[in-house]
Formats: sequence, structure tokens, C-alpha cells
Amino acid sequence: RIYPIILCGGGGTRLWPRSRRVRPKPFLKLLGDRTLFQQTLDRTGSGAGDYAEPLIVAGAAHVDFIEEQASADAHIIVEPAARNTAPAIALAAHRLPADAVMLVCPSDHHIADTREFERGVARAAALAGDEWLVSFGIAPTRPETGYGYIRTGEPAGEGHRVAQFVEKPDAKRAAEFLADGGYVWNGGIFAFKAGRFLDELERHRPEMAHLVKDAAQLGKDDGRVFHPASEPFSRIEGESVDYAVMENTDRAAVVSADMGWSDIGNWDALFEARLNDDSAADENGNLSRGVVDLSGCRGVMVETDGPRVSVVGVSDLVIVVDGDDILVTTREGAQDVGTLPGAKQQ
Ligand code: GDD
Ligand code: MG
Repeated sequence: RIYPIILCGGGGTRLWPRSRRVRPKPFLKLLGDRTLFQQTLDRTGSGAGDYAEPLIVAGAAHVDFIEEQASADAHIIVEPAARNTAPAIALAAHRLPADAVMLVCPSDHHIADTREFERGVARAAALAGDEWLVSFGIAPTRPETGYGYIRTGEPAGEGHRVAQFVEKPDAKRAAEFLADGGYVWNGGIFAFKAGRFLDELERHRPEMAHLVKDAAQLGKDDGRVFHPASEPFSRIEGESVDYAVMENTDRAAVVSADMGWSDIGNWDALFEARLNDDSAADENGNLSRGVVDLSGCRGVMVETDGPRVSVVGVSDLVIVVDGDDILVTTREGAQDVGTLPGAKQQ
């Protein structure tokens, strides 16, 4: 059996004004009629077949959305404080048998090809069973600095050993990795045995490992919801699994999966995913949602939750109207939306 662990945290400020603190990115219907969070649950079986019931690790602010959008068999761990992904995953590991294979999934990604995802999971689970910490490798298409880069090594099982894992390189190194051709992106989805993960955490981040263990042991069960003890947990220095474990372990492996992966990191990525997905674009590659009139536009995406938006003679723009907020950005500028005062205030 595979144990799906779904991570919900982070702000998603680059998709402002749709994504806000009161309505974060995983819980929005950005593609299709299910939210990204629901699509994640759908992909990981929702307790069906070879999958155990999902275990969702989230901050208190997310619990209402989870209750609303998850099926009744989902279990939830509510973090007392946000300490990034390494402690979140460790909490989940402590709730499982040591030899349980965990499939750690971000709750805010889109995967177009579910079949290929399933094949990747099968390859990854087999490697995880052999004590590997497995990443999903994605063929890189640009020198993105927001991702982890994996240099693939010797073959292992139906994947490869990781020769080097570099989380969020600077622009220069990212460009070198892309040009080199021997690197893949880390897709942010992981498979490993709970016990193996905790051993590696203990080895590379002993302080964090001890505090998480205390938080888990002193925590309180409340039916489907588990509350780790807040005092030890809050003392943890937050760090992502990529820096804390994946960069350091010598038991990392990677499986490649050409599954139409996108982390929908900004409006441009969402535009791209929608063009590939529902292809409801007009003949000039424009997409619109809500009351929108376009004339002489090309490569423009507009969505509005109320006011009529009329756009004439522009190209490669994204326009979003949400309540009292209006965003206008070029597709290129989309990655900087998170730095706007409005996005920060939410
Ligand atoms: N429960 C919980 N608690 N979840 C969290 C927390 C936390 O404190 N922080 C982040 N998450 C969730 C996010 O909601 C997301 O679903 C997932 O964990 C990954 O966190 P991000 O903050 O989105 O990471 P990232 O995008 O910067 O980088 C990761 O993903 C990239 C691919 O999208 C890394 O794994 C990179 O190496 C990878 O390339
Ligand atoms: Mg992310």
C-alpha cells in the first residue's frame, strides 16, 4: 500500500488576486471543475485501490477548506506553526509504520497526464521499497531558479541514482544546468519509507528530528485530526525537505515522468496549463473567463468575477479582476506579481 501525504502550506502570492490568505491557491478551481487540492486527492486514489487513506498536513488556517473539500476518510495533521516541509513530512512519518511507503504530494500542482503519473508512482514506490528517497524528475524547459535541480547518475531500479541535488540555484548555475543537459527539475513529489526518511532526517538534521519526534509523541488525537504538541514544534528552525534531506542524503534516486507537470507558479504558467488543458482558446490564443470582450488581441488571458472587461489591440497580457482588485501584467512580468503591495497585503 502507498500512503499519500498531502502538503498544504505557503501563500501562493504570485497568483494574487485570485489566491489570497483567506482563499489560498490549492483550494481554487484554477483548471477544470475541481480545485488543485481535490485533483491531488483524486490522483492519489482517495483511499481506493493500492492507496491508504490520505494524510493531509496543513496549517490551522487551511483546516476549514480541507474539511469542505476532502472526502470523509481523510486524516489531518494540524501544524501548530509553519516550519516548512521537512518538519511537516516528518510529522506524517511519525504517524505511520516504519516500512510504510509515503507518497508526498504538494497540494498546488497540476498534472495533465494522470496515467503517466501512476506509472511514475509505481516506479518510485518500487525504489522506495528498496530504501531509496525518490524524487520525480521533470525535463527542464527554462533556467528556472525556483526549482531544485537533479543531476542523474547511475541507473537504479526503474530510475536513476541522484548524483547531485541542488535546491534553487542562482540564475547563472540554473543556466549552466540547463545547458549541460544532464539535469532534471525536482517535481516536488517524493516517495520513501517513513522509517528511512526519519533516519535520514536524524542523520542530517538531528535537532529538527528530535523536536518533531517530541511534538508527535506529545500530540493529541482528536478523531481524524491530530494536533502535534506546539511547544517543541514551534522551536524547530523551519527548513524545506529539499535543503534538509534531499541535498544531503546519499540514498536519493529519481524517476522521470513526462506527465504534463506544472506547479502553476504564476499567471503565465496557469495560462500555459489552460492552453494545453481545456484549449478553450479563441483562434488568436486568447482565453477568457467571465464577461469579457476582446478585439484585435493576441495571447491575452482575462478573468473577471464581476465587472465587464473590454480589451482592444494588445498581446501577451494577463488581466484579472477579483473583487476590488485588478491585476494587469505582461506574461513575462507574471513572476513578479508576488512582490506587489496588494499581493503582500492580500
Ligand atoms: N504542511 C505544510 N507546512 N505544507 C507546506 C509548508 C508548511 O510549512 N510549506 C510549504 N508547504 C507545501 C506547499 O503548499 C506546497 O504544496 C509544497 O509544500 C511545496 O512547498 P513550496 O513552498 O511550494 O516549495 P517550492 O515550490 O518553493 O519548491 C519545491 O517544489 C519545487 C517544484 O514545484 C521544492 O521541492 C523544489 O525542489 C521543487 O523544484
Ligand atoms: Mg511550490
